[in-house]
Amino acid sequence: MKLSDLKIIITGGAQGMGAYFATKLLEAGAQVAVGDVKDELLAQLPAGIHRRKLDVSNEADVVAFVAWANEQMGGLNGLVNNAGILRDGLLVKKDRATGAVTKLTTEQWNAVIGVNLTGATWMVREVVAKMVETEQKPGVIVNISSIARHGNRGQSNYTAAKAALAANTVTWSKEFAAFGIRVGAVAPGMIETPMTQGMNQKARDALVAAIPVGRVGVPEDIWLGVKFVLECDYFNGRTIDVDGGLSM
Ligand SMILES: NC(=O)c1ccc[n+]([C@@H]2O[C@H](COP(=O)([O-])OP(=O)(O)OC[C@H]3O[C@@H](n4cnc5c(N)ncnc54)[C@H](O)[C@@H]3O)[C@@H](O)[C@H]2O)c1
Repeated sequence: MKLSDLKIIITGGAQGMGAYFATKLLEAGAQVAVGDVKDELLAQLPAGIHRRKLDVSNEADVVAFVAWANEQMGGLNGLVNNAGILRDGLLVKKDRATGAVTKLTTEQWNAVIGVNLTGATWMVREVVAKMVETEQKPGVIVNISSIARHGNRGQSNYTAAKAALAANTVTWSKEFAAFGIRVGAVAPGMIETPMTQGMNQKARDALVAAIPVGRVGVPEDIWLGVKFVLECDYFNGRTIDVDGGLSM
C-alpha cells in the first residue's frame, strides 16, 4: 500500500519506536491515530496526529478506541501493533548468598501477557472487525514482535507473548486474506528507546559486544522494516528480524 493512502492506528505511540513510526507516517502523508496509556506524553506528538488515551489490556477501551479512530480518520486500513511492556525475571531464582528461592510472580506474568499478547490480539480483532463491518479494503497490520521470541533468559513472560505474536502473524495472514488484509511482523533486536535506557551498564555492554554490526539499533532501523511491510503488497504472514545479526 502507498503510505499516503493509509489511515492507520499506532498503539504505544507516545514515546520510543511508536512515536517515531507515527511521525514518519504523518510526514509521508498518512492519517495517523495514536493510543497510549501515557496520555501526558501524547500531547508532545506533532500536530496533525489524532491521539487518545488507550490501555490495550482493557477490552472495552480497545473497542472504543478503534471506533473513535475510524471516525477521526474517516476510515481505517492499518495497524502498527506496537504497545509493549517488560516485567523481566527468572522463572525460578536461587540467591547465591542466602539460598533463598524466589519465583516469577503472577503479577509479572499477567501484566506482560495482558498487554503484549491479549492486548495486541484484541487490537487486531477490533481493527479487522471494523474494516470488515465497514467494507474497507485493502488493509495491513504490522505486529511488533521481538528477538526474544526465540527465547531469552529472564523473559519467560515476554518471550511467550512475542513468540505467540509472530506465530499468529501466520494464523491471521491466512484468516484475513479473504478480507484483503495482509499481516506481517517485525522483530527488533536491542533498540535505543526508553524501554532499554533503564538497563544496567554491564548487561548493556555485554549485549552490545554480541551484536555483529557493533551497535545498538535506533528507531529508524525498525521503521525501515515496518515501512517495507506496509508497502510491499506481496509480503504476508512472515516476521522480519531486524537485530544487527544478534543471536539470543
Ligand atoms: N526497545 C527494544 O529494544 C525492543 C526490542 C524488541 C521489541 N521491542 C518492542 O517494540 C515495541 C515498542 O517498544 P519501545 O522500545 O518503543 O518501548 P517504549 O517503552 O519506549 O514504548 C512503549 C510504549 O507502549 C506504551 N504502553 C505500555 N503499555 C500500554 C498499554 N497497556 N496500552 C497502550 N500503550 C501501552 C508505553 O506507554 C510506551 O509509550 C514494544 O512492543 C516492545 O516490546 C522493543
